[in-house]
Amino acid sequence: MEWQPERYAHNARFVADLGAPLIDLLAPEADESILDLGCGDGALTAQLLARGCRVVGIDSSVQQVAAARRRGIDARVLDAQALTDQPELGERFDGVLSNAALHWMPRQDAVARGIAHVLRRGGRCVAELGGAGNVARVRAGLFASLEEQGVDPTAFDPWTFPDVDTMTRHLHSAGLSVDFIEQFPRPTPLPGDIAGWLETFAGSFLDGLGQGQRRTVIDRVRARLQPDLASDGVWTLDYVRLRFRCSRP
Ligand code: BEZ
Repeated sequence: MEWQPERYAHNARFVADLGAPLIDLLAPEADESILDLGCGDGALTAQLLARGCRVVGIDSSVQQVAAARRRGIDARVLDAQALTDQPELGERFDGVLSNAALHWMPRQDAVARGIAHVLRRGGRCVAELGGAGNVARVRAGLFASLEEQGVDPTAFDPWTFPDVDTMTRHLHSAGLSVDFIEQFPRPTPLPGDIAGWLETFAGSFLDGLGQGQRRTVIDRVRARLQPDLASDGVWTLDYVRLRFRCSRP
Protein backbone atom coordinates (compact mmCIF):
# COMPACT_ATOMS: atom_id res chain seq x y z
CA MET A 1 0.00 0.00 0.00
CA GLU A 2 1.29 3.43 -0.96
CA TRP A 3 1.14 6.04 1.82
CA GLN A 4 0.33 9.64 0.86
CA PRO A 5 1.65 11.97 3.59
CA GLU A 6 -0.70 14.89 2.71
CA ARG A 7 -3.77 12.65 2.84
CA TYR A 8 -2.44 11.05 6.04
CA ALA A 9 -1.94 14.45 7.68
CA HIS A 10 -5.52 15.41 6.75
CA ASN A 11 -7.33 12.20 7.77
CA ALA A 12 -5.06 10.66 10.40
CA ARG A 13 -3.66 13.39 12.63
CA PHE A 14 -5.69 11.83 15.47
CA VAL A 15 -3.38 8.77 15.37
CA ALA A 16 -0.43 10.75 16.77
CA ASP A 17 -2.69 12.79 19.08
CA LEU A 18 -4.13 9.62 20.66
CA GLY A 19 -0.65 8.08 20.85
CA ALA A 20 0.81 10.93 22.90
CA PRO A 21 0.18 9.21 26.30
CA LEU A 22 2.63 6.49 25.22
CA ILE A 23 5.44 8.99 25.58
CA ASP A 24 4.60 9.46 29.26
CA LEU A 25 4.53 5.67 29.70
CA LEU A 26 8.00 5.46 28.13
CA ALA A 27 9.11 8.39 30.33
CA PRO A 28 12.16 9.24 28.22
CA GLU A 29 14.86 11.44 29.68
CA ALA A 30 16.81 14.04 27.77
CA ASP A 31 19.75 12.51 25.91
CA GLU A 32 18.36 8.97 25.97
CA SER A 33 18.49 7.17 22.63
CA ILE A 34 15.03 6.19 21.43
CA LEU A 35 13.91 4.22 18.37
CA ASP A 36 10.45 5.06 16.99
CA LEU A 37 9.40 1.82 15.33
CA GLY A 38 6.97 2.63 12.50
CA CYS A 39 7.41 6.40 12.80
CA GLY A 40 5.10 7.31 9.89
CA ASP A 41 5.33 11.02 9.10
CA GLY A 42 7.09 11.65 12.42
CA ALA A 43 4.32 13.61 14.18
CA LEU A 44 4.83 11.66 17.45
CA THR A 45 8.58 11.22 16.93
CA ALA A 46 8.92 15.02 16.94
CA GLN A 47 7.63 15.06 20.53
CA LEU A 48 10.55 12.81 21.55
CA LEU A 49 12.95 15.22 19.86
CA ALA A 50 11.31 18.11 21.73
CA ARG A 51 12.12 16.30 25.01
CA GLY A 52 15.80 16.29 24.07
CA CYS A 53 16.05 12.59 23.18
CA ARG A 54 18.39 11.28 20.49
CA VAL A 55 15.84 9.78 18.15
CA VAL A 56 15.91 7.47 15.15
CA GLY A 57 12.66 6.73 13.31
CA ILE A 58 12.15 3.76 11.03
CA ASP A 59 9.32 3.06 8.62
CA SER A 60 8.91 0.88 5.54
CA SER A 61 7.24 3.71 3.57
CA VAL A 62 9.61 5.88 1.52
CA GLN A 63 6.98 8.65 1.39
CA GLN A 64 6.40 8.69 5.15
CA VAL A 65 10.14 8.63 5.90
CA ALA A 66 10.60 11.63 3.57
CA ALA A 67 7.82 13.46 5.47
CA ALA A 68 9.50 12.62 8.82
CA ARG A 69 12.85 13.90 7.52
CA ARG A 70 11.20 17.19 6.61
CA ARG A 71 10.52 17.56 10.35
CA GLY A 72 14.25 17.18 11.03
CA ILE A 73 14.03 13.57 12.22
CA ASP A 74 16.78 11.02 11.51
CA ALA A 75 14.33 8.70 9.74
CA ARG A 76 15.29 5.61 7.75
CA VAL A 77 13.45 3.24 5.43
CA LEU A 78 13.69 -0.08 7.26
CA ASP A 79 11.45 -3.11 7.79
CA ALA A 80 10.87 -3.56 11.54
CA GLN A 81 10.43 -7.30 10.90
CA ALA A 82 14.10 -7.51 9.84
CA LEU A 83 15.90 -5.50 12.53
CA THR A 84 18.10 -8.45 13.49
CA ASP A 85 19.71 -8.05 10.03
CA GLN A 86 21.04 -4.64 11.15
CA PRO A 87 24.14 -5.34 13.33
CA GLU A 88 24.91 -1.61 13.73
CA LEU A 89 21.56 -1.16 15.53
CA GLY A 90 22.31 -3.94 18.06
CA GLU A 91 22.04 -2.75 21.71
CA ARG A 92 21.89 0.84 20.40
CA PHE A 93 18.79 2.13 22.20
CA ASP A 94 17.64 2.93 25.74
CA GLY A 95 14.03 2.78 24.60
CA VAL A 96 11.69 1.81 21.78
CA LEU A 97 8.35 3.49 21.11
CA SER A 98 5.77 2.19 18.66
CA ASN A 99 2.32 3.64 18.01
CA ALA A 100 -0.29 2.17 15.65
CA ALA A 101 2.35 0.45 13.53
CA LEU A 102 2.75 -3.19 14.57
CA HIS A 103 -0.65 -4.25 13.18
CA TRP A 104 0.67 -3.54 9.66
CA MET A 105 3.36 -6.21 10.25
CA PRO A 106 2.24 -9.83 9.90
CA ARG A 107 5.46 -11.27 11.41
CA GLN A 108 5.07 -9.85 14.91
CA ASP A 109 7.31 -12.57 16.35
CA ALA A 110 10.15 -11.17 14.20
CA VAL A 111 9.33 -7.63 15.36
CA ALA A 112 9.64 -8.77 18.99
CA ARG A 113 13.07 -10.28 18.23
CA GLY A 114 14.04 -6.99 16.58
CA ILE A 115 13.04 -5.03 19.68
CA ALA A 116 15.18 -7.33 21.84
CA HIS A 117 18.05 -6.89 19.35
CA VAL A 118 18.09 -3.06 19.38
CA LEU A 119 17.59 -2.55 23.14
CA ARG A 120 20.53 -2.32 25.47
CA ARG A 121 20.31 -4.40 28.67
CA GLY A 122 17.72 -2.74 30.94
CA GLY A 123 16.15 -0.88 28.01
CA ARG A 124 12.38 -0.75 27.65
CA CYS A 125 9.75 -0.66 24.93
CA VAL A 126 6.27 0.86 25.03
CA ALA A 127 3.88 0.02 22.20
CA GLU A 128 0.26 0.32 21.18
CA LEU A 129 -1.44 -1.43 18.27
CA GLY A 130 -4.81 -2.72 17.23
CA GLY A 131 -5.82 -5.68 19.40
CA ALA A 132 -8.02 -8.70 18.59
CA GLY A 133 -11.37 -7.50 17.23
CA ASN A 134 -10.05 -4.07 16.23
CA VAL A 135 -12.28 -2.33 13.64
CA ALA A 136 -14.20 -5.62 13.34
CA ARG A 137 -17.33 -3.94 11.99
CA VAL A 138 -15.37 -1.95 9.41
CA ARG A 139 -13.52 -5.07 8.31
CA ALA A 140 -16.80 -7.00 8.02
CA GLY A 141 -18.31 -4.14 5.97
CA LEU A 142 -15.29 -4.13 3.66
CA PHE A 143 -15.33 -7.91 3.26
CA ALA A 144 -19.07 -7.99 2.41
CA SER A 145 -18.82 -5.08 -0.04
CA LEU A 146 -15.78 -6.56 -1.82
CA GLU A 147 -17.37 -10.02 -2.02
CA GLU A 148 -20.43 -8.43 -3.66
CA GLN A 149 -18.04 -7.21 -6.37
CA GLY A 150 -16.58 -10.71 -6.82
CA VAL A 151 -13.32 -9.83 -5.04
CA ASP A 152 -11.77 -12.14 -2.42
CA PRO A 153 -10.80 -9.69 0.36
CA THR A 154 -8.66 -12.19 2.30
CA ALA A 155 -5.93 -11.84 -0.33
CA PHE A 156 -5.63 -8.07 0.38
CA ASP A 157 -6.11 -7.91 4.15
CA PRO A 158 -3.07 -6.05 5.56
CA TRP A 159 -4.01 -6.07 9.25
CA THR A 160 -2.83 -8.40 12.04
CA PHE A 161 -4.52 -7.68 15.37
CA PRO A 162 -3.13 -10.05 18.04
CA ASP A 163 -4.69 -10.88 21.38
CA VAL A 164 -2.90 -10.49 24.72
CA ASP A 165 -1.75 -14.13 24.88
CA THR A 166 -0.27 -14.15 21.38
CA MET A 167 1.61 -10.89 21.85
CA THR A 168 2.86 -11.98 25.28
CA ARG A 169 4.18 -15.21 23.75
CA HIS A 170 6.06 -13.29 21.02
CA LEU A 171 7.68 -10.98 23.59
CA HIS A 172 8.67 -13.81 25.95
CA SER A 173 10.05 -15.91 23.08
CA ALA A 174 12.26 -12.96 22.15
CA GLY A 175 13.67 -12.91 25.71
CA LEU A 176 11.79 -9.77 26.82
CA SER A 177 10.06 -9.32 30.21
CA VAL A 178 6.48 -8.09 30.00
CA ASP A 179 5.93 -5.33 32.58
CA PHE A 180 2.26 -4.96 31.66
CA ILE A 181 0.00 -5.76 28.74
CA GLU A 182 -3.68 -4.86 28.37
CA GLN A 183 -6.41 -4.74 25.77
CA PHE A 184 -9.29 -2.26 25.86
CA PRO A 185 -11.98 -0.89 23.54
CA ARG A 186 -11.40 2.69 22.43
CA PRO A 187 -14.29 3.92 20.25
CA THR A 188 -12.58 6.49 18.05
CA PRO A 189 -14.35 9.51 16.51
CA LEU A 190 -13.07 10.44 13.08
CA PRO A 191 -12.31 14.00 12.02
CA GLY A 192 -14.53 13.52 8.94
CA ASP A 193 -16.32 10.95 6.83
CA ILE A 194 -15.46 7.25 6.81
CA ALA A 195 -14.67 7.60 3.08
CA GLY A 196 -11.52 9.56 4.05
CA TRP A 197 -10.57 6.86 6.57
CA LEU A 198 -11.02 4.10 3.98
CA GLU A 199 -8.98 6.00 1.38
CA THR A 200 -6.20 6.51 3.96
CA PHE A 201 -6.09 3.16 5.78
CA ALA A 202 -7.80 0.58 3.58
CA GLY A 203 -5.83 1.18 0.39
CA SER A 204 -4.68 -2.46 0.26
CA PHE A 205 -8.30 -3.55 -0.23
CA LEU A 206 -9.11 -0.81 -2.77
CA ASP A 207 -6.00 -0.13 -4.84
CA GLY A 208 -6.52 -3.03 -7.27
CA LEU A 209 -10.04 -1.86 -8.19
CA GLY A 210 -10.99 0.38 -11.09
CA GLN A 211 -12.19 3.90 -10.25
CA GLY A 212 -15.91 3.01 -10.58
CA GLN A 213 -15.69 -0.17 -8.53
CA ARG A 214 -13.63 1.60 -5.87
CA ARG A 215 -16.34 4.27 -5.52
CA THR A 216 -19.04 1.57 -5.35
CA VAL A 217 -17.23 -0.36 -2.60
CA ILE A 218 -16.68 2.80 -0.53
CA ASP A 219 -20.34 3.79 -0.94
CA ARG A 220 -21.51 0.29 0.03
CA VAL A 221 -19.29 0.16 3.14
CA ARG A 222 -20.57 3.59 4.07
CA ALA A 223 -24.22 2.56 3.68
CA ARG A 224 -23.69 -0.66 5.65
CA LEU A 225 -21.95 0.97 8.60
CA GLN A 226 -23.72 4.31 8.86
CA PRO A 227 -26.61 3.08 11.09
CA ASP A 228 -24.22 1.57 13.67
CA LEU A 229 -21.17 3.82 13.49
CA ALA A 230 -22.54 7.26 12.58
CA SER A 231 -26.06 7.31 14.00
CA ASP A 232 -25.50 10.74 15.59
CA GLY A 233 -23.73 12.16 12.54
CA VAL A 234 -20.17 11.58 13.87
CA TRP A 235 -18.33 8.55 12.52
CA THR A 236 -16.98 6.63 15.52
CA LEU A 237 -15.01 3.48 14.69
CA ASP A 238 -14.79 0.35 16.84
CA TYR A 239 -11.08 0.54 17.69
CA VAL A 240 -9.62 -1.91 20.22
CA ARG A 241 -6.13 -1.16 21.58
CA LEU A 242 -3.45 -3.54 22.76
CA ARG A 243 -0.89 -1.72 24.85
CA PHE A 244 2.23 -3.08 26.53
CA ARG A 245 5.48 -2.20 28.19
CA CYS A 246 8.31 -4.69 28.09
CA SER A 247 11.99 -4.60 28.90
CA ARG A 248 15.24 -6.38 28.14
CA PRO A 249 16.57 -8.04 31.31
C1 BEZ B 1 -5.45 1.14 14.10
O1 BEZ B 1 -4.71 2.07 14.45
O2 BEZ B 1 -5.92 0.37 14.91
C2 BEZ B 1 -5.76 0.94 12.68
C3 BEZ B 1 -5.41 1.87 11.78
C4 BEZ B 1 -5.68 1.65 10.46
C5 BEZ B 1 -6.31 0.51 10.05
C6 BEZ B 1 -6.67 -0.40 10.95
C7 BEZ B 1 -6.40 -0.19 12.27
